[in-house]
Amino acid sequence: MLIYMLNSLLEPIHAFLHNTTPQAWLDEAAKPQNLPVLLIDHANCELKAAQTAMWLIRTYAVEKDSGDALLAWLKPYEDYVYRRIGNGDFSGYQSGLSKKLISKTDFAFGDELIDKMVLLIKEELHHFQQVMEFLDQRGIAYENLSAGRYAKGLMQQVRNHEPARLVDKLICGAYIEARSCERFAALAPYMDKELGDFYVSLLRSEARHFQDYLSLAEKIAGEDISARVQHFGTLEAGLISSPDAELRFHSGSFVEQ
Ligand SMILES: [Fe+2]
Ligand SMILES: [Fe+2]
Repeated sequence: MLIYMLNSLLEPIHAFLHNTTPQAWLDEAAKPQNLPVLLIDHANCELKAAQTAMWLIRTYAVEKDSGDALLAWLKPYEDYVYRRIGNGDFSGYQSGLSKKLISKTDFAFGDELIDKMVLLIKEELHHFQQVMEFLDQRGIAYENLSAGRYAKGLMQQVRNHEPARLVDKLICGAYIEARSCERFAALAPYMDKELGDFYVSLLRSEARHFQDYLSLAEKIAGEDISARVQHFGTLEAGLISSPDAELRFHSGSFVEQ
């Protein structure tokens, strides 16, 4: 039953992505000495996912008042990660959005973007908190870690006029979510049972996030976006399959230097 459920979640992910995670990355990521880097970068990715979704709402869908409420929601997390304020326990902050968001009237898909992204932010912040708990349980201190090349490599190709910029960013979001999902599933058998189970538990929400991003991109574009999806699919697969000396959650095929 579980295998069936996993396969049905992973089938569209594998159809969307142009390749699978290289064995060299899995071998490197599975080394016990690399667990701190992997977990800390994973925590950073979860926060980054929440920040990106929030940026989309603030930039495209709401007025300043609602934007300020969004920023206040994220503040304790950002304070901890960037300014080391607080103790890393976020259990009290989960539904921390202080007011109902009012969408701008001139953006036809504002309500849909808000609904999907607010749910996504809640889930990503919950994932972030879960990874922080793993760090704590395993005695790994959170420390600053530079971002890998992956997201930057995708964003460099985002067009700079609207609505193309928004459509491209949503397609990139879909690829990042889909790759996370593929990687959680690929990595799970290499981890101890507790971490492996955690990665499998993340699959369901990440699989839906990929679909949410993609369907928003299609609706907002109002035209066929398959050429653009193909473009980012090729780019993304190249970042995953090409040599990369720096291990991160979304890094390329690991090579020793
Ligand atoms: Fe997540
Ligand atoms: Fe996600």
